[in-house]
Amino acid sequence: MTTDNTNAAAKIELRNLFLSTGPATRILECCAGPNRSMYRACYTGRDVTSLDIKSISGTIRIDNRQYVKNHADEFDFFDVDVYGSPHQLLATLFANRRSSQPFAVVVTDGTGRLLEYGGHHRAHCVSANIPRRMRIPHLHRFSKELVGYFLKALAARYGYTITGGKFIKCKKMMYYGFVARKNG
Ligand SMILES: C[S@@+](CC[C@H](N)C(=O)[O-])C[C@H]1O[C@@H](n2cnc3c(N)ncnc32)[C@H](O)[C@@H]1O
Repeated sequence: MTTDNTNAAAKIELRNLFLSTGPATRILECCAGPNRSMYRACYTGRDVTSLDIKSISGTIRIDNRQYVKNHADEFDFFDVDVYGSPHQLLATLFANRRSSQPFAVVVTDGTGRLLEYGGHHRAHCVSANIPRRMRIPHLHRFSKELVGYFLKALAARYGYTITGGKFIKCKKMMYYGFVARKNG
C-alpha cells in the first residue's frame, strides 16, 4: 500500500535486507502500531519484543525512549517506524548502548514532512551547523543530507561507525537502515 506518508513495500524491502544481512537475533520493534503491519510482514516467528505508547494487543505499553534507555543492550536489531522524527529515540539508543556488539537499525523518518510544514529540527540543525534560530526556505529538500549529518555526528559522539547504509526516499518520507559498529 502506498499513501502520502507510508510506503509498505519500501519498508518491507528495507527490513528484509537488514534481517538477512545484519545482526538480527533479538529484535526490538519500537513503534508496533495498531495494525502490526511490519510485524506480520517481516517478524512473525522471530524473537521480537514490540512496544507502543498505546495499548495494543501483543505489545508492551510504554514510551519507547524509556524502554530503550533501560534495555538497549538486550537487542541487536531496532525497528523505529515513526511518522514524525526518530532522532530522539536514535540518540537515546546510542547514548545507552553499552554492548560492543554491532546492531542494526531500520528507520522511518518524517523529518522532510516536518520541515516542509514549518517545523524546525534542532538535532539536525546543530549537526549541520545551522544556527538555532535561522529559518532556511526549502530546507526539507535537504532532509537526506541533514539526516546524514545527524547520524554521523551521533555515531562519532559515541564511538561508532555507521556501515551498510541503505536509503530510500519516497514522496515526503525517508526509509533507511544501517549497521552501527563500535570503533576500535
Ligand atoms: C507509524 S505507526 C507504526 C506502524 C507499525 N510499525 C506497523 O507496521 O503497522 C507509529 C506508532 O508509534 C507509536 N508511538 C508514537 N510515539 C511513541 C513512543 N514515544 N513510544 C512508543 N510508541 C510510540 C504510535 O502510537 C503508533 O502506533
